Amino acid sequence: MFSLPTAVSLLFLALAEAARASPCLAFDANFNLHVFGLDGKDWNAGTQDQWTSGSATDITTSGRPPFDGSNTTCYLAQFYNAIYVMNGDKSQPSAVHIYDAGAKSWSTQSVTTGGFDPSNFVTILDHDTNVFYALSKGELYFLDMGALTTANSSALTWNDVGKPSFSTDNYQPVMAIAQNHVHFLDVPNVPAGSAQIFVIHFSYFQPEAQSYSGDTFPATHGQATSFFQESGVQQEFAFIPDDGSATYVINVETNSSTALAGPTIKDSSATYFAGISSLVQLASDGTVSYLPYKQGDAQTNKAASWNKVTAIAAVAPPSNSSSNSVSGSGKAGASSTGSSGGAKPSGSAGSDQSNGGAVGRQVKAGAVGAALLAVLGFALL
Ligand SMILES: *[C@@H]1O[C@H](CO)[C@@H](O)[C@H](O)[C@H]1NC(C)=O
Ligand SMILES: *[C@@H]1O[C@H](CO)[C@@H](O)[C@H](O)[C@H]1NC(C)=O
Ligand SMILES: *[C@@H]1O[C@H](CO)[C@@H](O)[C@H](O)[C@H]1NC(C)=O
Ligand SMILES: *[C@@H]1O[C@H](CO)[C@@H](O)[C@H](O)[C@H]1NC(C)=O
Repeated sequence: MFSLPTAVSLLFLALAEAARASPCLAFDANFNLHVFGLDGKDWNAGTQDQWTSGSATDITTSGRPPFDGSNTTCYLAQFYNAIYVMNGDKSQPSAVHIYDAGAKSWSTQSVTTGGFDPSNFVTILDHDTNVFYALSKGELYFLDMGALTTANSSALTWNDVGKPSFSTDNYQPVMAIAQNHVHFLDVPNVPAGSAQIFVIHFSYFQPEAQSYSGDTFPATHGQATSFFQESGVQQEFAFIPDDGSATYVINVETNSSTALAGPTIKDSSATYFAGISSLVQLASDGTVSYLPYKQGDAQTNKAASWNKVTAIAAVAPPSNSSSNSVSGSGKAGASSTGSSGGAKPSGSAGSDQSNGGAVGRQVKAGAVGAALLAVLGFALL
């Protein structure tokens, strides 16, 4: 018979799954804004001057991951004009899907995980070395992407670097890359306005936290993403606390921090991707918004406000409980894997990430409720 622990772990799984099945944002090396897996399709909204008029281009094509994973994340390899996708396919949790933005084609890189847990990590892609550094269950790992724009036939490997110098007990990592230093925010016992640092070139954790002058960012969980330069290494990253109360930009040359407008949509499940002249938010209802940004111009940045990327809303409108007419297909729809842009009606119906996840959430809330009832039922037996 079903044991209570089994039912509890089922409930736990249901809850974990309810967390999100997510589309993701990324720029290509020409700073065209891409959104993958939104309403079941991939979109290119062009450069910033094109975001507030017209429509994004449907770039959905064969070989893409289904974007049915949880916590899907995307990264730009600027030197190679490649976008790497993690957790884009729940049937291949360790794979890295590679979008060659020049050739507009997909391939799937197989990856050996070792101790790295693809369901529990946060990572950054180092700009100059094209190496991922990830914190997974309190252990630091790296994955060297070489110069890949298409997958290599041999598997890559997550290599164990070791434990950070700081305590990771109950730490939900907040990580950002700048100047080949990995910055860890919201580290236990580190005060607001400071970060722990891993120096990639020396594979070395700085023993002392680095503090930043200016507007003190809070010691709280949030999202971080690095601004790019026209070329060369990143110097700044944005940190958005989960409450969305402000946007902090941390400059690692001057070691200072500036508070800018928080996103209009306060959403702790939102994800972010910065370019050179903007910070873009993808909210969990699928709304894409951006904050214009100009490095070194504090006055302009302080006055800037968030705007909608209407070119994406025009083709993939945000979901909303009242506007979800996803025609009763529940969450069955992830079968469009790899089908080409041609005959592909399934993209419009049913998969969890359609409509930015809100539908999936509601469906899953039902499943969670059922699991909860089951637990209570067994508890009463
Ligand atoms: C997704 O992320 C959340 C929060 O970080 C985590 O609790 C959950 O386990 C993750 N799920 C998967 C399947 O990666
Ligand atoms: C790709 O595979 C070849 C042959 O197995 C290997 O020599 C090369 O280092 C690999 N590239 C990367 C980036 O791992
Ligand atoms: C900024 O912080 C980094 C990392 O701790 C340090 O190497 C650098 O010397 C600092 N720069 C200044 C101007 O204080
Ligand atoms: C959501 O639904 C409400 C009520 O039907 C509507 O007024 C609103 O415009 C919708 N929002 C979006 C983003 O579709």
